[in-house]
Amino acid sequence: MIQNIQTDGIGMTAEKATTRRGIILAGGTGSRLFPITHSVCKQLVPVYDKPMIYYPLSMLMLAGIRDILVIVNPRDLGGFHALLGDGAQWGLDIYYAEQERADGLAQAFLIGEEFIEGEPVCLVLGDNLMHGDALPEALLAASERTRGATVFGCEVEAPEQFGVVEFDQDGVAISLEEKPDVPKSNYAVPGVYFYDDKVVDYARCLRPSARGELEITDLNRLYLERGELKVELLDEGIAWFDAGLPESLAEASYFVRGIQEREGCKIACPEEIALAQGMIDRDRLGQSVARYEGTPYGEYLKQL
Ligand code: G1P
Repeated sequence: MIQNIQTDGIGMTAEKATTRRGIILAGGTGSRLFPITHSVCKQLVPVYDKPMIYYPLSMLMLAGIRDILVIVNPRDLGGFHALLGDGAQWGLDIYYAEQERADGLAQAFLIGEEFIEGEPVCLVLGDNLMHGDALPEALLAASERTRGATVFGCEVEAPEQFGVVEFDQDGVAISLEEKPDVPKSNYAVPGVYFYDDKVVDYARCLRPSARGELEITDLNRLYLERGELKVELLDEGIAWFDAGLPESLAEASYFVRGIQEREGCKIACPEEIALAQGMIDRDRLGQSVARYEGTPYGEYLKQL
């Protein structure tokens, strides 16, 4: 079920074709973080000083995306709504849809069909976080590629925990597997994916995997088999976390704290990104300052 969908104003207006819609998938039960997520949604728990969802949200903003669908577990809709609202405080249009059952990541495109309206779309998993100087450029480049699909490859120590991409000697992607027992490479596919206007049709072709889910890796494989998948290796300066496990959640928090203390500025502050991108003016920022008056976050916004 889609809520708060307004179609006017979403049309293509930019001169250059770019991906203009984004989906944050924040459904699921977060069972790997139990008991933390027994009564609190995973994507609302903190990564250091911000709710987890601020990080994927910021990634979409850095990709120049303003129209965002947040897909949530029905139980958690109120919490997301209270936190993110309609997105106007950041110059965004945020919509919500419910995922009744966690039937797989690729279900996002079936749930979001009405929102996608046959346009290219970027999907970010609600527990993924990336940071690095080269990140905005990498996201913008992917968002400008509106034919085929673009995913990233990131060298990791435990590829068996992720979708894994294998390359031939020329660096061309030749296979994709979801959490293989024996990975064919050390390259994981992070939870940030850019698709062209065929994604809903492709998602409709998917059948549930052995674990009963519509797998994002199966969707990516459809693009790969048609020669329509670009796998972009992440620049070494870009850090990636999937904060869905207690260890990686803690690691992501330490990382954010370390960077913020060293550099004296925040990672994934949506107000700051919106201001820098000209999506909000100082009056609008002032409203956020007032919202957080007397808090460290409010002080940070004040000095922007
Ligand atoms: C999902 C995807 C996997 C991907 C990972 C990235 O796994 O299925 O292909 O590599 O996200 O975070 P999950 O973490 O939901 O098990």
